[in-house]
Amino acid sequence: MSDNPQKDTTQDKIKNFEQKSQTIKMMGGEKQIKKQHDLNKLTARERLDLFFDKDTFQEVQLFVKHRSALFGLDKKEIHADGVITGFGKVNGRTVFAAAQDFTSSGGSLGEMHSKKIWKVMDMAIAAQKPFVAINDSGGARIQEGVSSLEGYGGIFYRNTTGSGYIPQITAIMGPTAGGAVYSPALADWVFMVKNSSYMYITGPDVIKSAIDEEVTHDELGGAVAQATKSGVCHFVAENDTDCIDKIKILLSYLPDSCLSPLPVIACTDDAERICTELDSIIPDKVNRVYDMKKIIKSIADNNEIFEPFELWAKNIIVAFIRIMGKPVGVVANNPRHAAGVLDINASDKASRFIRFCDAFNISLLTFTDVPGYMPGTIQEWGGIIRHGAKLLHAYAEATVPKITVITRKAYGGAYIGMCSKQLGADYVMAWPTAEIAVLGGEGACNIIYRNEISSAPDPEAKKAELVSAYEDQFSNPYFAASLGIIEEIIAPRDTRKRIVALMDALKDKKETRLPKKHNNIPL
Ligand code: HXC
Repeated sequence: MSDNPQKDTTQDKIKNFEQKSQTIKMMGGEKQIKKQHDLNKLTARERLDLFFDKDTFQEVQLFVKHRSALFGLDKKEIHADGVITGFGKVNGRTVFAAAQDFTSSGGSLGEMHSKKIWKVMDMAIAAQKPFVAINDSGGARIQEGVSSLEGYGGIFYRNTTGSGYIPQITAIMGPTAGGAVYSPALADWVFMVKNSSYMYITGPDVIKSAIDEEVTHDELGGAVAQATKSGVCHFVAENDTDCIDKIKILLSYLPDSCLSPLPVIACTDDAERICTELDSIIPDKVNRVYDMKKIIKSIADNNEIFEPFELWAKNIIVAFIRIMGKPVGVVANNPRHAAGVLDINASDKASRFIRFCDAFNISLLTFTDVPGYMPGTIQEWGGIIRHGAKLLHAYAEATVPKITVITRKAYGGAYIGMCSKQLGADYVMAWPTAEIAVLGGEGACNIIYRNEISSAPDPEAKKAELVSAYEDQFSNPYFAASLGIIEEIIAPRDTRKRIVALMDALKDKKETRLPKKHNNIPL
């Protein structure tokens, strides 16, 4: 470029543009990039290269600059203002993305950085396409003060307005601290990378000085902590590449928006497949555990499941599967953990998943084997009533096709909560091993026959006789079937066949609710 741009030829101007673009695209420069690599982290640009189909990424607002002169920022150039925004194709489908770049001033978020993010979020919402955020940032750009906070506010607002309209995914691939954690928390899905990412509201230093607790960054807010202890993180990745691969798998189950068709793939599995292995999965002894995931895998296309929240509230399983190529959301009690009981965390986990599936027209399939709600003061004082109510609410408000299979226990209020008929299940099936009752035989008889048992000459024998009579009545699916509370009793081996037929029969289901502003789900 000459000293007098007016004398430059068109070719000079194009070359100048290309040079400027190249410089900005280097973001924080080689030294910072090396630092990032040494931490086993990719740069934002490398992450986006992996994420988008080759040569499809189109960058938006590359030339945006911060406009703050405070605390030395007037002398500081921050390339692309520390965030790369744009859109491209992921397995042929359009996705919008913003990736913070730690090499450029720590990916810190100031006024213009946030405006770039707002722009692609607005585009994603208008275009009805998924939005993916990749976070790797020191948080609010300290020099810009309240402008940075305004930036976060605008992101939270867009997270909320886009909620239930377009799928929103956040990948935490570095630090995320303070209020910055709330954009991920408002998104539908949070991925974290082991050992290189953390999320917390207040860090170890503040915790130490405020309440004298000692904890490391990773113990406090690392991927494993947030995935096992808090349920904030839904998917844990081994490294950046694994994280991006997993996001792509998740996207393959999701529609572009609540108004778009589901991504249906060609099915290579058999609609009529008999799952003989399921005939022997329920143990003869009622208190023995079995692997509910085997049931889900058995009935899924090609035995494939994709499981969010795998490490948290393991007493309930939520998973995406496909039935004849079409995505389905599965909710299932897990007898392997706490006997599959419903507690606070299980209720929260399942409710959020159900509401996500319903928002995006993904049919729901429920497997029930639930002994009841977890008893105890921790649960009662923690609000199991309030949290358990979410599950009832989520199922009842969901208008997608809802199919329920009762494999074994379906007791009391927890039976109702697991998508029973009166919560709007379109079709409830039970295996011959199902027990649909208010309580298990022993618990029931201890209450209704307390006096008879205690005054009998041989209380134990009397109890055994009464329990046996109660179980004859309720420890099977026939009484419920006689009342039409369940539609059908099926052999376990026929479960996939039935689900395939039902999902097909219900595919055009239309159900509406009362016209109103919105429900008031118990939170
Ligand atoms: C401005 C920042 C920054 C920030 C990092 N940098 N965070 N600049 N604002 N918040 C800059 C550094 O000055 C440095 O610039 C470069 O990014 C790399 O940072 P380092 O400190 O060298 O990196 P590292 O040693 O890896 O440490 C990472 C870190 C640390 C632990 C994240 O940078 C840090 O503590 N940052 C501040 C975190 C923080 O308190 N943020 C505010 C949180 S509150 P140079 O020019 O030297 O390369 C918040 C509120 C949100 O975010 C509210 C929403 C409602």
